[in-house]
Amino acid sequence: MPNITLVPLLADGQFHSGQALANALGLSRTAVWKQLNRLQSLGLEVESVKGRGYRIPGGVELLDDGRVREALQPPARALLHELQLLETVDSTNAEVLRRIAAGTAPGLVCSAEQQTAGRGRRGRQWVSPFARNIYLSFSWEYHQGAAALEGLSLAVGVAVVRALSGLDVGGLQLKWPNDVLSGGTKLGGVLLEMAGDAAGRCQVVIGVGINVAMPTAAADSIDQAWTDLARLCGGTPPGRNALLAALLNELLPLAASFGDTGFAAWRAPWMALDAYADTPVVLSSGEQRQAGVARGVDERGALLLETTLGLQPVYGGEISLRAAS
Ligand code: BTN
Repeated sequence: MPNITLVPLLADGQFHSGQALANALGLSRTAVWKQLNRLQSLGLEVESVKGRGYRIPGGVELLDDGRVREALQPPARALLHELQLLETVDSTNAEVLRRIAAGTAPGLVCSAEQQTAGRGRRGRQWVSPFARNIYLSFSWEYHQGAAALEGLSLAVGVAVVRALSGLDVGGLQLKWPNDVLSGGTKLGGVLLEMAGDAAGRCQVVIGVGINVAMPTAAADSIDQAWTDLARLCGGTPPGRNALLAALLNELLPLAASFGDTGFAAWRAPWMALDAYADTPVVLSSGEQRQAGVARGVDERGALLLETTLGLQPVYGGEISLRAAS
């Protein structure tokens, strides 16, 4: 686990001598050096220049309860039950599921500087280095059963794109079921997990990961074409606290209204962002492959695949989609 006390001292991106850091923390220089090494092993680049000291190039913005709350709009503020900002956690989705099991009310929001076992779709790992990206999960409760929630993860994708475009990040698209793309490369993803009764009252964990400034070393373990906001914003991505608040401003009201609106209200906006509209694609699920032309989604959020047999709805789950080569 990183020792967070060193990070705020280096957060300004300026050089600090080893001695100044040691004095500020009441530690020996060796202890400071060990902490610096540990930060580097977490994927946080620390530059060392003889005679000047240490710095985190570009600085780092740690998650801050006050700054997130300050940027929340009244609807999101009213829907937020609890804001839990963690230094490190296995997975924010797993943490929210644990809190649901312990009886925490809907509207629990959890974000972390780092995930040690971030979960992606289809059993993949979600690469989650320290203090560089957004890992966000929150809970909501529904009474209509899991079937009524089929389009929820697609609607979440639309809300994420809206939050980002409010921060001047434009040109984003969605890939069914819920990847957030820029120029065909993946900027973020959505993972919904459920607890409770699939036929009645259930709690949903809505998990969102956004690459903000992915360190190159961490990116080595990403097994698909990726991008981050730093690349899309000329090296200056939005601050993570502003981004977290912008996401919550879109996502909490969406979650609260989805039980009434269903996916119908989100279908047209999703189609307008569809990166694969009218594109020949191949769907894979385990060993099975199905080729066709992607024709958007139906009113439940199923992908409409045009094959020689006609237009077939395909439901999410463990299916992946790629362009036909
Ligand atoms: C995908 O594979 O595209 C879904 C990625 C979802 C990642 C987010 S990060 C926050 C939340 N916690 C997790 O463990 N996963 C989701």
